[in-house]
Amino acid sequence: MGPLSGNRDQGKGSMASVDHHPPPAPVVATFDPASLGGPRFAALPPLALYVHLPWCLKKCPYCDFNSHEARGEAPEDAYVDALFADLEFALPSIWGRKVVSVFIGGGTPSLFSAAAIDRLLAGIRARVPLSPEAEVTLEANPGTFEREKFAGFRAAGVNRLSLGIQSFDPKHLIALGRVHDADEARRAAEAALSLFGNVNFDLMYALPRQTVAEAESDLGVALAFSPPHLSCYHLTLEPNTLFHRYPPPLPDEETVADIEDAVHAMLEVAGYGHYETSAYARPGRECRHNLNYWRFGDYLGIGAGAHSKLSFADRIVRQVRHKQPKQYLEQVAAGMPLQEEGVVARSDVGFEFMLNALRLTEGVPATLFAERTGYPLALVQRELAAAEARGLIERDPVSIRPTELGRRFLNDLQALFLAERPATQRTRR
Ligand SMILES: C[S@@+](CC[C@H](N)C(=O)[O-])C[C@H]1O[C@@H](n2cnc3c(N)ncnc32)[C@H](O)[C@@H]1O
Ligand code: SF4
Repeated sequence: MGPLSGNRDQGKGSMASVDHHPPPAPVVATFDPASLGGPRFAALPPLALYVHLPWCLKKCPYCDFNSHEARGEAPEDAYVDALFADLEFALPSIWGRKVVSVFIGGGTPSLFSAAAIDRLLAGIRARVPLSPEAEVTLEANPGTFEREKFAGFRAAGVNRLSLGIQSFDPKHLIALGRVHDADEARRAAEAALSLFGNVNFDLMYALPRQTVAEAESDLGVALAFSPPHLSCYHLTLEPNTLFHRYPPPLPDEETVADIEDAVHAMLEVAGYGHYETSAYARPGRECRHNLNYWRFGDYLGIGAGAHSKLSFADRIVRQVRHKQPKQYLEQVAAGMPLQEEGVVARSDVGFEFMLNALRLTEGVPATLFAERTGYPLALVQRELAAAEARGLIERDPVSIRPTELGRRFLNDLQALFLAERPATQRTRR
């Protein structure tokens, strides 16, 4: 998943199963952050590249991603040209920096032809120094599966495929309005594994009318393929979706809690590490691109609606590209791909770092805060002490990690870092 979606389910899954709140935080004296100036980086964070392809065969009723029905052919040549122009516009802000991973997300990037993805990756390599060992992921929908095309993606340099399976159960695929059936999901899963080896399946649970037994059997089908990586998302009703307007009959809280317990237990027994809120991997198969987001690395996002976070010697900048594909194409042609740009305020940086880092089961090294934000850890000392006093984090001189309680109450834990602060300064373009 891209940065657009990385924070989809902050702790929502675990919240459902519990009916009490953690104890209140004590007040702790701390230093004055106003004594600090701007950030100071000894070295810039690793840089990843996100590329957004915004078209799908059909809009799914639960989906709030920046995705649009293609209604005929997606204008792939014009769009790839615009991506190159967008990348060239961004080059001065990433000058000389190596790109450690690429994620082609959407939407449904697998709607594009293999030739278009080949041109895209060749054009990226010609413009930025891509590490030879870079992870290059492409998101694919089983409804777009053709063996020859997927083999073409592999030949173009895609070395990790993320397959949006959602469910193998025909009844639930229909309820989710998916364009593919269970047979197509199985065929795509099999072919993806034989062509790429490094594969993720996206699955969702707590589906309309889903029982615990159905969720177990669904995950059982997925595990029979033994994918190196699984992302298991709690289906959420997002504003501005058909499901939000016409809510389907979702399982009750108790059933959802039982489904979650069953999912965690099955994945653990099968040997997957639960390394992030929704992500499970075999050892060494964690998604490097997403880990970079969660460790507060830098990313340049190109394409319609893509988000970027870029560090400079004395500031951290966030950018958002124009969201509507047509508007994006026009604005890129006019040399103005950005819809919004702003410097991350000192008062926001602790929250932004923790929003990501606390999703990781093993947490982060204590030194990472200063490395990635450019500020000393003392900036969030009071919040850390409050989180520790409530039993939501554990820390020592070496690392900071969420406790089991902290993972269960992730939203509450992250909110502790939301200090009273002025809003991030943004410039609308
Ligand atoms: C951009 S889509 C990935 C690929 C492709 N578009 C597809 O759907 O096959 C990213 C993933 O987010 C998850 N997702 C989307 N909407 C969701 C929602 N409302 N609740 C939970 N997960 C959701 C789905 O698992 C989906 O595969
Ligand atoms: S195919 Fe994927 S991105 Fe497209 S609408 Fe469905 S869930 Fe969203």
